[in-house]
Amino acid sequence: MLTGILIGVLALIAFLYVALPLLAPSQADPLPDDRDPILVDLSEEREALFRAITELDAREDLAAERRQSLRERYEAKAAKVLARIDAREQELAARRRRAPAEGEGAGRRRVPYGAVAVLAALVAIGAVVPAYVLPRVGQDATITTTDLDVARQLQAQQRAVEQDPSVTNLLALGDTYLGLQQLDDAEATYLRAVNTDEPAPAGLYQRLAVINLQRDLSEAQRWLRLARDADPNDPDTLYLLGEVSWAVNDLATAHDAYTDFLAAADTAEPMIAQRVALLDEVVPLTEAIAAEASQADLMALGDLFWQAGEPQRAVESYFRVLTEFDAMEPVALARTGELLYLAGRADDAVLTLERAAVAAGSLGALEPSGLRTLADAYLQLGAWEQAEGAYRAYIGQVGEADAGNAPELLAAAAARASGEAAPEAADAIDQLVGQQVFVANCAQCHGLRGEGGVGPQLAGSSRAANRANVDDAVRFGRGVMPAFQAQLSPEQLDAVVGYVTGALAAQQ
Ligand code: HEC
Repeated sequence: MLTGILIGVLALIAFLYVALPLLAPSQADPLPDDRDPILVDLSEEREALFRAITELDAREDLAAERRQSLRERYEAKAAKVLARIDAREQELAARRRRAPAEGEGAGRRRVPYGAVAVLAALVAIGAVVPAYVLPRVGQDATITTTDLDVARQLQAQQRAVEQDPSVTNLLALGDTYLGLQQLDDAEATYLRAVNTDEPAPAGLYQRLAVINLQRDLSEAQRWLRLARDADPNDPDTLYLLGEVSWAVNDLATAHDAYTDFLAAADTAEPMIAQRVALLDEVVPLTEAIAAEASQADLMALGDLFWQAGEPQRAVESYFRVLTEFDAMEPVALARTGELLYLAGRADDAVLTLERAAVAAGSLGALEPSGLRTLADAYLQLGAWEQAEGAYRAYIGQVGEADAGNAPELLAAAAARASGEAAPEAADAIDQLVGQQVFVANCAQCHGLRGEGGVGPQLAGSSRAANRANVDDAVRFGRGVMPAFQAQLSPEQLDAVVGYVTGALAAQQ
């Protein structure tokens, strides 16, 4: 159908193009033989002479006198040509003056039927065709016609809203804006819908919340609460409210929303169930702490988060213990040190973990994970002897079989401490430094173990084994990945590239 109309339009244009010169000859293009051949020759000669004269100035290979004489000759010729052109033009003008007497109406200005007809046809086509074509454009149409389709849809919806600013019409218009990524227009439209007298559907509040997810989580939470009031059993609303409340640390609301979500969702959600179980214990503690903070409650809260794999939240609680109750609480110190090391601050981590060891009584009294972190941090800072001691204590604690690559690193530290230039030691240490740089700079996108996230998986990837590829990505960035050339030292760059192409790429 669309094709048919287009062919019709093209045929009409072609017809007009051919027919018009016949209908209105004076509107037709002047054909080449309309021009007088003698005049054409003369003009060409004139152009050639003028060109020759101007080019003379650039002819530095010719002597000045020679140039002068040439110019005079050309100018004399040009003057003759100009005179002949004038004469020919007068002759032609005289013929034309005689002609009107013979032909009829040739000298009068004619109505430009041709131009009028073409304009009229174009206006008609413009007015008629879109109305036929556009509503017939479907999902499978090309991008351009789909864009036109959306533009028309937008226009129709804007008109509908002008005539009747109902919630339904506003919602439809807002959704079109949202689809076009025009967030401000979408938000303004949804807000108009909220402010009508009609009751707003949950979906409306949900959309406002989604728009605010990137900008203002508290605002998003406010809209999600309203969405829940409008429809208390919508799983999407409940899930989002849980996530947003968890993110803004409103744990009681998160707990309720997740619990309701589990009841409303028809599928098993083990991750959410786990979080609800955690919050079952956390919420009473946070309420008790809000009423009256105690060291025991803060430690218990920190431990819950630590064990649940939420080190950041755990350390917030430990930090309150250290600042408000006991600056030498060994577990709070050690775990804060571990988090500092993960954040790339090896020197602060060493200070904090050493204090933790003092508070606990000895190195061996630290938890294994703290001890291991201290050993890694020493090694990274080049404190070989301390590293050796810490690795030895760590291996003593967990046993050689469960110590991972600690024996290797112990050997490297010992080699360095005794001044040996052991190349395996250098490799082991580089890998460790690289891992640390990776955890501090790359893990938020590529995962703590390179398993992928925002960025692609690097563990076990052949592309991650390609040194040139990795080096390029790290130095200059790629897509949303930032460039690290200026952020990391040359040693850190080498180390992280070595870690990615080595230990990470080799993983299964
Ligand atoms: C902000 C998130 C982010 C950070 C931080 C980040 N990356 Fe990336 N990285 C990405 C994304 C996204 C890509 C894919 C880019 C693309 O191909 O468009 C990528 C691509 C890569 C690639 C290429 C992978 C391939 O298949 O070719 C490597 C290697 C890499 N990153 C390593 C690193 C290292 C090492 C760091 C830390 C120094 C790092 N990235 C930090 C997001 C990130």
